Amino acid sequence: MSTLDEALAALRRGEAIGLPTETVYGLAADASRPEAVRRIFALKGRPADHPLIVHVAGAEALDAWACDVPPAARALAAAFWPGPLTLVLRKRAEVPAEVTGGQDTVGLRCPDHPVALALLQAFGGGLAAPSANRFGHVSPTTAAHVRGEFGEAVPVVLDGGECRVGIESTILDLSGATPRILRPGMLERPAIEAVIGPVEAGAAGDSPRASGTLEAHYAPRTPLWLLPREAVAAAAAEQTALGQRVEVLSRGPLPEGCSGLALPADPAGYAHGLYAALRELDARGARLLIAERPPESADWLALHDRLRRSAAGAGLSDDGP
Ligand code: TXA
Ligand code: MG
Repeated sequence: MSTLDEALAALRRGEAIGLPTETVYGLAADASRPEAVRRIFALKGRPADHPLIVHVAGAEALDAWACDVPPAARALAAAFWPGPLTLVLRKRAEVPAEVTGGQDTVGLRCPDHPVALALLQAFGGGLAAPSANRFGHVSPTTAAHVRGEFGEAVPVVLDGGECRVGIESTILDLSGATPRILRPGMLERPAIEAVIGPVEAGAAGDSPRASGTLEAHYAPRTPLWLLPREAVAAAAAEQTALGQRVEVLSRGPLPEGCSGLALPADPAGYAHGLYAALRELDARGARLLIAERPPESADWLALHDRLRRSAAGAGLSDDGP
């Protein structure tokens, strides 16, 4: 297991490290050094025009990275940082284009994890960090997941245990005329609106690119179907009868006769376990994953978003997978 000192030394050498946060693990490097940031893109296999989130030690760092910081950003940072909220703001001229994908905005977040905060405080600067998975894979929520993604290519991985939240931060764009949620997360719209008033949701045509907004992101390798609970057992039986090996991801107890994993029935518990469950089911070598579709209520919005993207590669064709 790597230590904080090893992590600091690696960052100062311009290397990328595995960093625990409360949402998912990040692949972190010095955000002020273009060559360190390019290393992240190379490791991930991610297109270079996708912007990265800069992780900072606290709200004091807002003005080091952003300019024209609106009062709403300060109010939200005061209310929710450290926490699972990324603020997209107009960037300062010094912020490397490698970090922002060449855009004139920068995403900033202070993570709520003791290891990340200790590292950021000791490091003193900002850490550019996307989720520590290869492009398009499921995000990692344990140090072992990160090692599984990168092996010896990323020798320094800080182990902060299982990520508490389990899915990526809410991204709020404050760089335009109206605040807009670019990616839903477990910090929900009503909590944000309670602090700054009405916000819009969903990317507008001229919004900055968010790679979490690509379909078929967060995808397990095995095709995934999303079905209502009452349809899961029958579909699993039917596909099994056709000779497919099927694994089921249920919300609450597994339907009778199904092989698979059961996640908690509440949104927080479900989010905490979702990515580890998708990885585990993927590893079982099934031909098809069937996930039970969660309720339509607002508190499941971010999870619908991730599940829909996970399923985007599979489709629901008439003739099966
Ligand atoms: O919870 C999280 O946000 C995790 C942890 C590690 O902090 N990070 C994460 O990073 O999910 P990544 O790169 O996998 O997703 C970051 C998202 C991408 O969709 C990216 O396009 C968007 O943030 N983003 C970053 N800077 C942006 C900007 N200036 N404008 C619009 N979107 C931005
Ligand atoms: Mg990601």
